[in-house]
Amino acid sequence: MFDQQAYHNALNTSWLGESLIYKEELPSTNTFLKKLSTEELVHGLLVLVDNQTQGRGQYERTWYAEPAQNLTFSIALIPTQVGRFHVLTLAFALAISELVEEYSGEEAALKWANDVYVRGKKIAGLLTETIYTGQELNRLVIGIGFNVNQKTFEPEVANIATSLFHILDKKKEREKVLCDLLSRCEHYYRLWLRQDISLIKKVNGKLIGVGKYVRLEVNNTMLEEEFKFLGINGKGHLLVLNKELEAHTFSYEQIKVHIT
Ligand code: BTN
Repeated sequence: MFDQQAYHNALNTSWLGESLIYKEELPSTNTFLKKLSTEELVHGLLVLVDNQTQGRGQYERTWYAEPAQNLTFSIALIPTQVGRFHVLTLAFALAISELVEEYSGEEAALKWANDVYVRGKKIAGLLTETIYTGQELNRLVIGIGFNVNQKTFEPEVANIATSLFHILDKKKEREKVLCDLLSRCEHYYRLWLRQDISLIKKVNGKLIGVGKYVRLEVNNTMLEEEFKFLGINGKGHLLVLNKELEAHTFSYEQIKVHIT
């Protein structure tokens, strides 16, 4: 069971994760925060669950996590600026990758658009969702599934999933891992808010496939031509060069990147 007291004792942020809702079981922490009333909503509120029964991933996929072994949580944010939300998702993924590197000394990388990989396997996935009231953003929900102490995975994902335990060969205290992560996320949230280009550079430095030729799937259609992947620009658009060295940009919603 997640130790809320140990978490609050170790937390070193100014606002992110100060408010915590812990549940032993929930269908999905993202769904929980999306449904929470506006009156109960606080910027930086974190909901964490030990047993998520209907975890949701990208592209309608299901997210499985062994109960009480991992960090399965969502954060509600009420940003003062609208747009570039996938850059924030990548910034939080960057925070996870840096933490994995700090703990293990092994290189961790970002896979477009919202996964963290180490030793060629996925260690974390993020799912960002928005709630609007009319035209106005009501909240942003960033859900994170971070494999921490899980030892075995379902056969269908065993070849593609990993955990901190697999990398370190020992268990980590989840409360401490979460606090370490939130400090990094809070830092990158600040950079994201002020549109600091150093954040974009860091993200590009960790994105798998940058500098390589990739195949692009645009609005569900695979393009014939290969493009050189340059990462994201300051607006958060994906930047590529074609074989004639002409630059093209694509919005996040349009695109999937296939590393060849
Ligand atoms: C993906 O890899 O496709 C994204 C996975 C996101 C999973 C997290 S776990 C906490 C939060 N609640 C959910 O239902 N999903 C996210």
